[in-house]
Formats: sequence, C-alpha cells, structure tokens
Amino acid sequence: MTEPAPSQYAAALIDQLVAGREGMAKDWLAKLLGNLADRQVDLDVVLRRIVDETTRRLDADRGTLYLVDHATRELVSRVAHLPEIAEIRLRIGEGVAGWVADEAQAVRIARDEQDARHSVRFDAMTGYRTDSMLAVPLLRDGVVLGVLQLLNQRTGRFSEADEAALARIGEQVVRILDGTSLRSQLQPDNPRPLAFRFNHIVGESASMQAVYARVARAAPKDVTVLVRGETGTGKELIARAVHHNSARRDGPLVKVDCAALPESLIENELFGHEKGAFTGADRRTEGKVHAADGGTLFLDEIGELTLPVQGKLLRLLQDKRFLRVGGTVPEPADVRFVCATHVDLERRVAEGTFRRDLYYRLRVVEIVMPPLRARGHGDLDRLVDHFLFEFCRRHKRDVTLSTGARNALHSWPWPGNVRELEHCLESAVVLCPASVIEVGHLPLGDDTLPESVDVFTSDLRPLEAVERDYVRWALELHDGNRSATAAALGIGRNTLLRKLKGD
Ligand SMILES: Nc1ncnc2c1ncn2[C@@H]1O[C@H](COP(=O)(O)OP(=O)(O)OP(=O)(O)O)[C@@H](O)[C@H]1O
Ligand SMILES: [Mg+2]
Repeated sequence: MTEPAPSQYAAALIDQLVAGREGMAKDWLAKLLGNLADRQVDLDVVLRRIVDETTRRLDADRGTLYLVDHATRELVSRVAHLPEIAEIRLRIGEGVAGWVADEAQAVRIARDEQDARHSVRFDAMTGYRTDSMLAVPLLRDGVVLGVLQLLNQRTGRFSEADEAALARIGEQVVRILDGTSLRSQLQPDNPRPLAFRFNHIVGESASMQAVYARVARAAPKDVTVLVRGETGTGKELIARAVHHNSARRDGPLVKVDCAALPESLIENELFGHEKGAFTGADRRTEGKVHAADGGTLFLDEIGELTLPVQGKLLRLLQDKRFLRVGGTVPEPADVRFVCATHVDLERRVAEGTFRRDLYYRLRVVEIVMPPLRARGHGDLDRLVDHFLFEFCRRHKRDVTLSTGARNALHSWPWPGNVRELEHCLESAVVLCPASVIEVGHLPLGDDTLPESVDVFTSDLRPLEAVERDYVRWALELHDGNRSATAAALGIGRNTLLRKLKGD
C-alpha cells in the first residue's frame, strides 16, 4: 500500500520478462509508463526496483544500471548495489561495462575465467571481489544508451538463458527511459553532463550541486533535516530525495501539510485519537506518525504549527514516542523527520511564535534551496528544456521556443521560482497556436500590468507595496478565488495570503 504503484508494476514486468512471457510484459510496461507520466519522482524508485528484481530473479549478488554520459564519454552508475561508493564513473572502453558500451555487445564471464577486460581499478575502488559477470548494452536504434550489469551468479556462471532474459529486460529499460525526462538527456548530441542521482531534480549549478552534496551526506543518516527556501524552489522535491536516498527508502514516505489544517485537526491528523476522545470519536484512529512508522514523515510548512502542537512534536522528536488525542499511554514511533518551511523561523522564534528548543532540534541539518534567479542561466535553460519536453509529451504537442521568448525568460526575475516557470511553460505549450512559442505567448507579467498598478509612470514606491497592489489586482481578476490567483502568480496559497496581509 505504501509502495508506489509504478514500482510494483516494475516488479511484475521483470517477472514476466524473466519467464519469457513478452505479451504479458507489454501490459505491465504500459501500466508502468502510464503511471510514471506525471511523476518523475518515482523514476528512481522504479529503476532501482528493476535492478533489485533482476538481480534477485537471476540469482546474482549485485546489479548496476549504467547510463552513458555523452558529454564526458563516460558510463555513470544510475542504480548500483554498491554501498561503498556513491557513484561509479567508467570511461567508455574501460572495464567490462565500458567494453560493452563501446562494442554494443553482451559479455558473459564465468568464475575462474580470466578476462583481460576486467578492470582492476573497479574492484580496488569498491573492495568487492567480482567472480562471474553478465552485462548487456541498452540500445536505441543502434546507439548505446547504457549498460545493465549483474555480478556474481550464485553458481558462479550466468547461463545463456540468463543472458537472453537480461537482454529482454534491457530493451524494456530503454522504453522506460524513453518515456521519461531522461530521454532528452540521453540524446547523443546532448552537450550537458548528466546529473544522475537526482535526475528528476533538474539543475547543475554550483548552488544546486551544494544542495545535492548535503542531501547525499545527510540522507543515509537518520538525522532530522530542515529544508528552507522561497516558495516554489523545490523544497518538497528535496525532502523526497532525502527519503529516497536513505536506508528507509523501502518504508513509507508520509506527508503532512501543517498549513492545510486548523489547529484542532492537525493534532488528530498527526497522532490519531482514542475512542471517545471527543464527540463523534466513535473509534480509535491512527495518525500520520503511525502511518510513517519505519519510514519518513515529511512535515511541510512546519512554521505554521501552533505552540501547543509544537510542544507535542518536540516530545515526539526527543522521546520517539507520542500520545494519541485522548490517550494516556505513549506509543513508540520509528520515524525519520524531514521538515520544510519558507518562513523566517528565526523571526518567529524572536517573536515568540515558534519554540526555540524545537527550532534547534529541527535544524540538525539545514538545506537551503537557492531561488531560481540565483541559479544562473545554465540551470534556467535546463529547466526550460525539461518542462518544454514534459509538457509537449503530456499535452501531445510539438512546439519549440523562439530565441526572443527564451531571452524574455532569462530576464524575468521569477518571484515564484521553479513553480512559476513550470506554470508559465505549461500555459505557453497549451495555448500557443503555432509551432513556435513567441514572447507574446508567455504569461509573464509586464504587458498585463493594469492602470491601477502602473508602476512605471507613478512615483517610486516600496517594492512591497507595489507587490501587494499587484497581488490584490490579480485576486480581483480571479473573482477573489485565492487558489486560482496563487496558481496564476506561481506562488503557494499561503504565500498569497501573506502577501495580501503585507507581512
Ligand atoms: N530543480 C527542479 N527540477 C525540476 N522540477 C522542479 C525543480 N524544483 C522545483 N520543481 C517543480 O516545481 C514545483 C514546485 O516545487 P516544490 O513543490 O518542491 O516547491 P516548494 O519549495 O515546496 O514550494 P512551496 O514553498 O510553494 O511549497 C513542482 O512542480 C516541482 O516538481
Ligand atoms: Mg512545498
């Protein structure tokens, strides 16, 4: 129930492929791709599951999925059963996997067979003793996209049947890669190096590299992580990446949006309640803390919690125990916490609306997301290409961006960050009547500024005041509908409310 559906479909797919039932495999692949379409986050989970199941079904000890980085002419491990190192990079031609990538041919080596292609550097790097090996190329139209490799068959020898099964699996992996954002990255003419372990998170700027490095270091430890940053910068993506890169990745990831519920309900949502805890509580219910047992609890908008709930959360963080509403006996919870907020917690602490002790407890590891405008032109281009590709596929359109339109995107300050960019491009892809998106098709603010907020002809005013007027005007345009206004402005609903209040 907690496992994402695509991952289950992946397991069923491998089952059918190993058994040689390609007709059934096709059905599972279709289901898998249908479910992946809108959910890049699950891609890593699916690829990992494929490698896990393949390794298990073919009685191997370890498996690795490598993809070709055309920019650097290297093979980079995408999924690997190699706790020793975070990522393997091999030159095309180096080692067995490198040879497979170079020659576009499968390799099968049995125990005690000497093979000159075997890379000693590889075993030295990992401390792992390879005995038998099976590797097949991942091919699209004769071009090698990657290598799927298994190590150490239980009997010391992979069979011809194993090789055929692995080749079938490899073909389907190519289909899966083609059905996702990795497709554009894997084009042989892609000049940009691949950013792997966080593939669904687009960005290679120095500031994003720093974020990845922190995630990679913090994720495997069971420490509390606090993700901060402006609205729409990708805090939730990073929170999910922490879970998926942690030892709890096979456990549940449960999200609680602390801003979405009033105080009276949030406690119930988190901790559940005993029968008779309040009028209408006719049975005992479980909360999200319980649901996250063995996994990760993602507390979004943590800054919105009221002081009493903050107190209860602090107890949970300290004692790893919690009380249901109306309960008297504390229950244990094996939960890892990842929290996110866009508010200035230090200010809240100074104002007395956020507990200082909780604040220190939460920020054991702090990850600060850079705003889009600080990520440089390279990242903006990557995100634009990523979203264009995604929305063309999703909306079955084939449009490109004019140079003028791209320049306009580069000069926009993106107050709503990546989310605003995402909405902007989706709207342009859907609404653009021709095959090229021009500046006029982009829903960027300037030319729609109304008379009432004519910032260019009146005297200079504080930016905050201008912004407040603009937000009010946008709200009017949407007949007071806050969600629609927030979506149009590319900001979250809470941010909108804050901006209206002017704080
Ligand atoms: N680096 C990125 N690569 C690809 N997509 C991204 C990236 N960052 C953000 N997005 C997309 O932008 C949108 C906003 O991201 P997300 O919800 O993680 O932001 P957030 O910081 O939690 O925002 P808020 O504070 O408003 O809740 C999502 O649709 C997400 O998929
Ligand atoms: Mg969020």
